[in-house]
Amino acid sequence: MREEQDTKKDAAPTIWAVGGGKGGAGKSVVSIISAFWLARMGKRTVLIDVDLGGANIHTLMGIKSPPRSINDFITRKFKSLEDICIDTEEKNLRLISGSSEVLSFANAHFSQKIKLINHFSRLDADNLVLDLGAGTSFDVLDFFLAADEKIVILTPEPTSIQNAYIFVRNAVYRRLSRLSSKDPSLKALVKIAMDPKNELKIRTIKELLQFIQESGGKDVAEPLEKEIGKIRPAVITNMVKDSKEKNAGRIIQIVAERYLMTQSIALGSVSYDRQIFRMISDMIPLIQIDQSSQAVSNIYEIITNLLGRQQGHPLKGVSREKTPLP
Ligand SMILES: Nc1ncnc2c1ncn2[C@@H]1O[C@H](COP(=O)(O)OP(=O)(O)OP(=O)(O)O)[C@@H](O)[C@H]1O
Ligand SMILES: [Mg+2]
Repeated sequence: MREEQDTKKDAAPTIWAVGGGKGGAGKSVVSIISAFWLARMGKRTVLIDVDLGGANIHTLMGIKSPPRSINDFITRKFKSLEDICIDTEEKNLRLISGSSEVLSFANAHFSQKIKLINHFSRLDADNLVLDLGAGTSFDVLDFFLAADEKIVILTPEPTSIQNAYIFVRNAVYRRLSRLSSKDPSLKALVKIAMDPKNELKIRTIKELLQFIQESGGKDVAEPLEKEIGKIRPAVITNMVKDSKEKNAGRIIQIVAERYLMTQSIALGSVSYDRQIFRMISDMIPLIQIDQSSQAVSNIYEIITNLLGRQQGHPLKGVSREKTPLP
């Protein structure tokens, strides 16, 4: 993580953020099963519900009414995030529950969010998995951009693919806007360019950077391009019912590269599994899911792949060759 952070501890946990524009695409399900696998691999993991205002991870974990939530930290009832962690039945997995009655934080200032992320980083853990809310509010985007692993969940439906693209697009613009926060005219230009029908006819990030280069010079444009290049979202297609649907994430990869100058990675897919729906309906903690389930083993492979990349290994089965699109 953390371009915005200057006080990183040596042993700060790796932050995984799971986002994606559309509600119901499976962000919470993928977050929980990812956190479960990380814990099973012996890594001390904290699953954090940062769906501020629409928290439901505790329900999917079979907890009706969490004893403590992130609100208790935000409202200073508890001084340390450690005190609001809830143990789960999985040995290395703790939970920080969100709350649906989020008070003042929903429109928090950027610096407050960075403060909260800094507190996250001080948790005694190897990994933090952040389950983000739906949509592309600044809250969601700021947590997403602060993470080491930026995961975008979509389903194969066209609207979900479109939402995932908008999510990545807005994340790129949010990063640009933050990077230009000390330069009012640049910031204003980024704001104009965000409107797809802007008068300057800037339609893509590439065109925006060209415009910046022409008006402000290479010294301004190049560092911005470099920072955008660091975003590298990892896209997962969830609830896949047949093999044709598996490559939906590739669409994001192609359009993000073409229009957003962002190299995303289509990380693969997670199968649709009826068991998940049944477990959630019956309030059975999702971490009790049958490990032989196709969806669960898909997530295992994805997590193993990303862990391998963190160790410097190339991603397996994620070729940049053209695969057929759905
Ligand atoms: N791989 C899957 N197989 C079958 N059903 C799934 C799968 N993933 C998610 N679901 C179903 O989709 C529903 C929504 O999933 P989830 O709550 O994880 O979405 P979300 O993206 O977190 O939604 P929100 O934006 O509202 O927080 C679940 O209740 C579950 O029934
Ligand atoms: Mg959710």
